[in-house]
Amino acid sequence: MKICVVGAGYVGLTTSAVLADLGHQVTCVDLDQKKIRMLRDGKTPIYEEGLAELIETVTRSGKLLFSSDTASGIEDHPVILIAVGTPPQKDGSTNLAAVANVIEMIADHAHTHKTVITKSTVPPGTNEWIGRVLSDKGLPPENFDVVSNPEFLKEGTAVHDSFHPHRIVIGAKRKEAFQLVRSLYQKIKAPVIETNLAGAELIKYASNAFLAAKISFINEISRICDVYGADIKDVQRGLAEDPRIGPHFLRAGLGFGGSCFPKDLSALVHAAMDKGLTPSLLQAVSDVNETQTDFYLNKLEQNLNDLKGKQITVWGITFKPGTDDLRCSQSVKLINKLISKGSVIHTYDPVAKIESERVASHDDLYDSVKNSDALIIATEWPEFQAPDWERIKRSMNGTLLLDGRNFVDPESIRAHGLHYLEVARR
Ligand code: UGA
Repeated sequence: MKICVVGAGYVGLTTSAVLADLGHQVTCVDLDQKKIRMLRDGKTPIYEEGLAELIETVTRSGKLLFSSDTASGIEDHPVILIAVGTPPQKDGSTNLAAVANVIEMIADHAHTHKTVITKSTVPPGTNEWIGRVLSDKGLPPENFDVVSNPEFLKEGTAVHDSFHPHRIVIGAKRKEAFQLVRSLYQKIKAPVIETNLAGAELIKYASNAFLAAKISFINEISRICDVYGADIKDVQRGLAEDPRIGPHFLRAGLGFGGSCFPKDLSALVHAAMDKGLTPSLLQAVSDVNETQTDFYLNKLEQNLNDLKGKQITVWGITFKPGTDDLRCSQSVKLINKLISKGSVIHTYDPVAKIESERVASHDDLYDSVKNSDALIIATEWPEFQAPDWERIKRSMNGTLLLDGRNFVDPESIRAHGLHYLEVARR
């Protein structure tokens, strides 16, 4: 099948490469000419495991092309897959400007039948609106189909997740549109869920909201464990043994970040409120996450007496390990709060750096702790699990270790003479 993917971000690039590998003829278009030049030169603009290699294979076989000519991409391909950004606005609603631009271009350049597939995460009602806009702009209804086909990949494992999805969700109106999208993925083994447009949009939001809720749930329980002297890891294990609960997404810590959970949660809250509903549970999920860094900060403050003038080292600044993405990182949020309290911040991260005069970024883990009063593990990168703790203790001015991800073993930390600052750990 001939597919034009609009947008060369995480989702667009991965989807383009995967669809090309599945045998389709794909052209990935993006307005950013620099990005397209880079891709044509064989360079991948983002770090994602296995993606550069896959792009190289499918571009060499001629199955994947890159272009900055969106109009021709739309004219020449019967299937248009939208994978542009849908960033949040200040009030929590979704900025659909990029999607609206693509729809405008489709209306102007669709001379034959187009199946318009939305992969970008868009609020409920958006795909209906897309159909209305295309009609209003004069496209006859028999000349297009609008399909919602949300994406469930995780950053860091995007390629693997795309080849092995837990489900394929298709929201559409006509039998032919369902069939076309099924056939795109026919080589992939996964249950297919067919529903209407809003159903598909809501499966995406409900999935992310549910996962975010699990994290806020365990974080709230961890606060209760902390005051009653229970170890959250034991509680987590006890929960996980019940098959109705299961072990996943129950790791307590600093809370969730990234470009999806915080944004999608507020978009869903906004969408519910737009229709006069009060989504109390969803709001509570956000509230717990918003205050989780304060919970850790208070612990540190109590133990250091005053944060002003204290040198604090933070290990891990990305929103999770395995990515260079800093968007909505809880670590960055914590660092900003520490700065506002007058602390002097040093950081080390295996792949990312904070561009700020107020933060000293180090290339070496051991350099980062020299003369520090406290060390915080904010992201669970594997190299933070068992470094040379003796050397770290000798370098530091203080002995405090705050484990923001319950990642290291408290006993072994204490054995090295460091003070493991417990947050629901024993
Ligand atoms: C998330 C979803 O997991 C994907 O299924 C979805 O497709 C994607 O959003 C999206 O909507 O595009 P992602 O943002 O890449 O994927 O990251 P996750 O691995 O889900 O982690 C999100 C955050 O939750 C991270 O900050 C992580 O540290 C935190 N987390 C995760 C916890 O604090 N505890 C856990 O037990 C799990």
